[in-house]
Amino acid sequence: MFESVMRRILLGLGGSPAAGRLARRYGFRLGAGRFVAGRTISEAVSVVRRLNKAGKLATLDHLGEFVTTPKEAAESAEMCLQTLDAIKEAGLQANLSLKLTSLGLDIDGGHALGHMRRIVSHAAAAGQFVRIDMEDYAHCAQTLELYRELRREYDNVGVAIQAYLRRSMDDVRALGKLQANLRLVKGAYKESESVAFPHKADVDEQFIALIRLHLTQGYAAIATHDKAIVDTALAYIHDRLIPKERYEFQMLYGIGEELQNVLVRQGHRVRIYVPFGEDWFGYFMRRLAERPANVWFVLKNLRRARGSR
Ligand code: FDA
Repeated sequence: MFESVMRRILLGLGGSPAAGRLARRYGFRLGAGRFVAGRTISEAVSVVRRLNKAGKLATLDHLGEFVTTPKEAAESAEMCLQTLDAIKEAGLQANLSLKLTSLGLDIDGGHALGHMRRIVSHAAAAGQFVRIDMEDYAHCAQTLELYRELRREYDNVGVAIQAYLRRSMDDVRALGKLQANLRLVKGAYKESESVAFPHKADVDEQFIALIRLHLTQGYAAIATHDKAIVDTALAYIHDRLIPKERYEFQMLYGIGEELQNVLVRQGHRVRIYVPFGEDWFGYFMRRLAERPANVWFVLKNLRRARGSR
């Protein structure tokens, strides 16, 4: 009960521009550095170099979401292109993740599609891959529609699917026909019971079903830190002799490092989601909401920051 109230408060704060502005004043002193690789591309590149050395792949995300003006959307698109170039120049084993609302999905779908075509074709020319994150339910149908449009034109684009959504089984079945490259996740936003399973047991059950289905029909990026889910997926991969080229495991920067290392040692492909940039507040709040115990760690940082003033 306490956890679910806390989760709602944190997710609510994450969507509040005023709280975001306030947090930026405190900066990384709140502890965002545990989950966010830095403010600049060069800081993120250093983190990815270190991950690559440890045998891990990465996906870089320039943080930003829910932009409302064409100028902001164009700036985000430019940052995506610069990130792809930085990956290429540094010779990193990494691809790009992005959010369609950062490219103007809320202005109109055509706006975001135009930016996406530019980004995905820029990536294709350098043999790079682009993953569309899945945001809140209000953007889900539009995101999948736009993904389908892009998939008709490009091979180097994938999307994320959230296991907590009731619709996801139908979506994954349909996307299987497109040989889609899907990142499967539990889901991180505040959603109503009419569209999302409220209980963890139901989310986990659908998550496993989606992983099994997609492992047999397309490329599956299994994105979780939940060891029980990882073990269930591994058992299925083993039983069905799913080749290593058909799946990867993904985890977030700063979470589950031990499990990442075990999977690398076992020879599985492991990719770490590495977010960077100034607009870190919404992302940070979602990480706190997943594990309200993390709030104590923020409070400790705040006390320290106050003490050092
Ligand atoms: P679960 O929440 O059950 O956690 C399992 C264990 O992992 C916990 O017991 C704890 O040990 C550890 N853990 C999990 N979260 C933690 C945290 N914040 N801090 C410390 N420990 C933590 N969501 C979405 O809606 N759209 C998207 O596009 C993506 N993209 C994405 C990419 C990648 C690579 C990952 C790994 C995740 C996402 N997510 C996402 C987030 C996802 O939906 C989900 O919220 C988190 O992965 C947490 O769920 P778990 O599957 O880890 O399980």
